Amino acid sequence: MERGEQLFAHHFFSFVESYVIVVYYFFSANEHKESTMANSLTKNEYNPADLKADFVKTYGGTESSVSVFSSPARINIIGEHIDYNGGKVFPAAINRYLFVAIRKRHDTKILYKSIQFEGTHQFDINDDFAYDKKDDYANYLNGILSQLKKKGYRFDCGFEVLMASNVPAGGGISSSSALECGFAYAVSETFGFNIDRVEIAKLGQMSEHKFMGVNCGIMDQFIISVGKEKTAIVLDCNTLEYSYAPLELGDYRFVVMNTNKQRRLADSKYNERRTQCEEALRILQDNGIKINALCQLTPAQWEDCRKFITDETIAKRARHCVYENQRVLDAVEALKSGDLAKLGSLLNQSHKSLDEDYEVTGIELNTLASASQKQEGCLGARMTGAGFGGCAIALVHKDKVDSFIENVQKEYTRVIGYAAGFFACESGNGVARFN
Ligand code: GLA
Repeated sequence: MERGEQLFAHHFFSFVESYVIVVYYFFSANEHKESTMANSLTKNEYNPADLKADFVKTYGGTESSVSVFSSPARINIIGEHIDYNGGKVFPAAINRYLFVAIRKRHDTKILYKSIQFEGTHQFDINDDFAYDKKDDYANYLNGILSQLKKKGYRFDCGFEVLMASNVPAGGGISSSSALECGFAYAVSETFGFNIDRVEIAKLGQMSEHKFMGVNCGIMDQFIISVGKEKTAIVLDCNTLEYSYAPLELGDYRFVVMNTNKQRRLADSKYNERRTQCEEALRILQDNGIKINALCQLTPAQWEDCRKFITDETIAKRARHCVYENQRVLDAVEALKSGDLAKLGSLLNQSHKSLDEDYEVTGIELNTLASASQKQEGCLGARMTGAGFGGCAIALVHKDKVDSFIENVQKEYTRVIGYAAGFFACESGNGVARFN
């Protein structure tokens, strides 16, 4: 989550006309540069075609001995903070990728390097891996190794890694899950473990829980592992059943907006929300309600049993979960029937609930959402991801994207005192071999 997103900060400008559009504004820049060529790279992005050559420059040897894997960022269209409450969520992978180049070694050493960050992190495959602040981004990788070893996967040698990221960071689009799942997939393929995509997602989630101390749900790792271009997935987090839904937005596009807020203490607030939901569930169960997750309740069932929860804060958290889950079902239907106005209105309702009942928005996300919702051509807007800063998304008519960004930027800067980030992308693919 946030820690990784900060680590993988990377600036770029890009615009690709497709189902999902995100437009990125740099702190200091008042203009955005567009490219209509799918998959074109801009001057600020790392070209992954260079990664093998850079690997050889770093570690020696030949390019043919190196493998490169890609791993996407994600947005969540709707269904926030309910993956850990057995709810349904509606995320999509986006075409901003992190790349992992890897090669086995002849000894037991492990070396990690990054194009974006100085220095080398060195370990040994026989180490007992444990979280250490000074290990920085290497913690995410060691977290995966420690999970793999716990599960009995055996390593006959060490390896060396060079990473590069075009995933903008600190924005709630899950650069850390991209890192965890991309690395897990790279290791699995390199060592012939052939771990399936759902297992890759679970490894990433377990690593967050056991190594990073964040009790996240499965949504981010899942979509990053199984995502497919031009689709979002409807994921039932209770059963892990999922299906692909075409992202058909007609003349509308998603604009994604980064608050550029430094997220402090977000992990502990996230864990606190999760604990409050567990408390709500326990109270309901103690009162004879036969559910094993909050999102099993329909809104009508909730209204019948809410009286059992007397603590107003706990009740608000539970109410958000129940209604948000219903909004996901409605949003999937709305998209299926091409009712984008309905989808937009559900986005607005979701944001309101995350603000008033779940209390994970804050002035930055609220300013982005309310400024967006006022703009001509915008059908709806909401925060996406964990909140406490991070990103919001807005559903905007393609001809209004420029004026939308200009106006929202103006309002955001006036209220918050610094600029928001906007970035452009299209839907993307889950973890894959790149070359
Ligand atoms: C973070 C977590 C996810 C999910 C979202 C909120 O991104 O990693 O599991 O809980 O927050 O919906």
